[in-house]
Amino acid sequence: MSQNSQRRLLITAGPTHEPIDAVRFVGNRSSGRMGVALADAAAGLGWRVTLLLGPVAARPLHAGVVVRHFRTCEDLRTLLGEEVSRADALVMAAAVADYRPRPNAAMSGGKFRRTNAPMTLELEATPDLLAEVSANRKPGQFFVGFALEPKAELLESARAKLVRKKVDMVVANGLETMDSETVEATILFADGGRMDTAGVMSKPEFAVWLMGVIGAAGSGTGLRTED
Ligand code: CTP
Repeated sequence: MSQNSQRRLLITAGPTHEPIDAVRFVGNRSSGRMGVALADAAAGLGWRVTLLLGPVAARPLHAGVVVRHFRTCEDLRTLLGEEVSRADALVMAAAVADYRPRPNAAMSGGKFRRTNAPMTLELEATPDLLAEVSANRKPGQFFVGFALEPKAELLESARAKLVRKKVDMVVANGLETMDSETVEATILFADGGRMDTAGVMSKPEFAVWLMGVIGAAGSGTGLRTED
């Protein structure tokens, strides 16, 4: 990562909405607030920030944050393709849908009509965007993934994502973080290191703390405990 004060950060935030027909979608409860708070914190710390933001009401307060909007996993894939090569760091906080409705001629044209018969929605897996971009990453780029996990599997599953997605760091949260005002997180590093937040923090407080960790880790000066 370059050392000057204008390091470029690309953040993704919010859910994806995967269309069923012209008016309905498959989505999730992500509010985007974590990623928006990270964008504000990073801009305040001197990063040049681009925020790829899903269909949510949250907006960054910092005027310096460039916002580009996505709705579907495919929209986000296109935006990532356009933006990722110029980023020094990528923070993938978006809650990307794992499955989307399979294209279906009966539904795609307009509004699917209700009948009394049961209906089955056929889903297909979406591409893993983080794994895709990290497979093509440039030397020196620092990639951060998020993992939302049931408490009992938090560390094991987050560690597996770190390896599978080939990222430098994973921020692991319990499931309750999704639409909460607060965060309690464990950070796992590719080199085996680990950090925990000192208890529960508000999302803006956590964002400033996490950007400090990313800034230090990305420039090789991070201080942390090994597990
Ligand atoms: N992610 C992604 N593309 C997807 C799904 C997830 O880029 N299709 C990213 C998320 O933005 C996040 C990380 O991968 O940074 C982990 O997301 P998560 O949904 O927790 O992981 P999954 O790969 O979906 O694994 P699982 O379903 O087992 O939890």
